[in-house]
Amino acid sequence: MDAKTNIALELIDLEPELEDFRQAVVEGLSTSPQKTLPCKFFYDAAGSALFDQICELDEYYPTRTEIGILRECVDELATLIGDNRLLVEYGSGSSVKIRILLDQLPLAAYMPIDISREHLQQSAERIANDYPKLAVLPVCADYSQLTDLPIYAANPELRKVGFFPGSSIGNFTRDEARHFLQNVARQLQPGDGFIVGVDLKKDPQILHAAYNDAKGITAAFNLNLLSRINHELGAKLDPDAFNHEASYNHEHGRVEMHLVSKTEQQIKLGNDQFNLASEESIHTENSHKYDVEEFQQLARAAGFNPAKVWTDENHWFSIHYLER
Ligand code: AVI
Repeated sequence: MDAKTNIALELIDLEPELEDFRQAVVEGLSTSPQKTLPCKFFYDAAGSALFDQICELDEYYPTRTEIGILRECVDELATLIGDNRLLVEYGSGSSVKIRILLDQLPLAAYMPIDISREHLQQSAERIANDYPKLAVLPVCADYSQLTDLPIYAANPELRKVGFFPGSSIGNFTRDEARHFLQNVARQLQPGDGFIVGVDLKKDPQILHAAYNDAKGITAAFNLNLLSRINHELGAKLDPDAFNHEASYNHEHGRVEMHLVSKTEQQIKLGNDQFNLASEESIHTENSHKYDVEEFQQLARAAGFNPAKVWTDENHWFSIHYLER
């Protein structure tokens, strides 16, 4: 066996039960007048792989823009953060951006937290292979529900820095985002840092293209939620009977994704049954866009001091260093 691929990491397993998924689907499809499904369930193995493809799309500017900013500001970040920290990444996905930090920061340990177990295990093992001196402590969990960090990370002696890239904060409503930031503030000590990537408001045409790519990968990502409901909950949904729809909602400052039923149809989940009218939509995701000032106010309201912010030259994306 190749010595570089044989690290088996012990994963801390706080993965939500299947029942949570079923309950969320039943609740969301019972919601009136707008049916919903929570976007956190996009990320099964197939959904995570599709999301990785989205990040490579020409139209999807956030990933490459954020990576560009990170490369520019990493030295400054290293000075702000200091040595020997535990870096906690909320929603680590394929852990690509973290490498820019790991290459530059003398960290004590890295704790990737992600809901998608296999994806997490594989990327954590790759990181452990590539950074042999780094303690890698993967946690399979829904970070939005995590109130405390697992035991050793809760140690107040251990200085921490949180990392929440990709504008995943935009997938929360503004109230949920404040609540999440408050939660993270509780997991950190005064003086600890939190690095957050936040997508900025911009020309709605650019946003429209980013969520309606020509290759249809974002559509496949949205529709995969239906396949997941079929595989995991035994439904018999036909993804071809739905259209992907994504548009900018000016009032709420967010891109909304919906699955729109092409016909009148029924969704059967065991003993539960839900009726969908023709053209009725299921709201699957919000992606909120912020102004720099607006986000800093939110961070202040949650107990952080916005110490520094970097943006790209187009002002499309921002990286914030918040101090607890
Ligand atoms: C993960 N999240 C920040 C992405 C976004 O842009 O809201 C998910 C996504 N949805 C469609 N494309 C990408």
